[in-house]
Amino acid sequence: MKIKEPLFNYINPSIKYSIENEDSLTVLKTYKDEIFDLIITSPPYNIGKSYETKTSIEDYLATQEEIIKELIRVLSEKGSICWQVELSVTSTHAICLN
Ligand SMILES: C[S@@+](CC[C@H](N)C(=O)[O-])C[C@H]1O[C@@H](n2cnc3c(N)ncnc32)[C@H](O)[C@@H]1O
Repeated sequence: MKIKEPLFNYINPSIKYSIENEDSLTVLKTYKDEIFDLIITSPPYNIGKSYETKTSIEDYLATQEEIIKELIRVLSEKGSICWQVELSVTSTHAICLN
């Protein structure tokens, strides 16, 4: 498939960017307050995917809460967060986390 409008045509070349291959919470704590206008995140879903260790819903939400607090701290007042997760399914419940 040919890309008609490459994304990089829309990105101001003077904008600095970096890719951090680190624990998200560790990296987030190094950023100053309110420096991002848009945060898009797809955290582990805690549904037993190959790259994750499934924990209880309580432990999962506690970890996500800590990260989300940091995301809110680094988000500007006019900013938006897109937090994309799956349904959390137990033997008795399906909890929509979005
Ligand atoms: C739901 S997947 C994201 C999938 C991605 N959106 C995609 O389309 O391929 C969650 C990702 O978070 C990574 N991850 C898990 N814990 C992390 C952490 N503490 N810090 C940074 N990345 C983490 C996992 O390795 C996995 O790649």
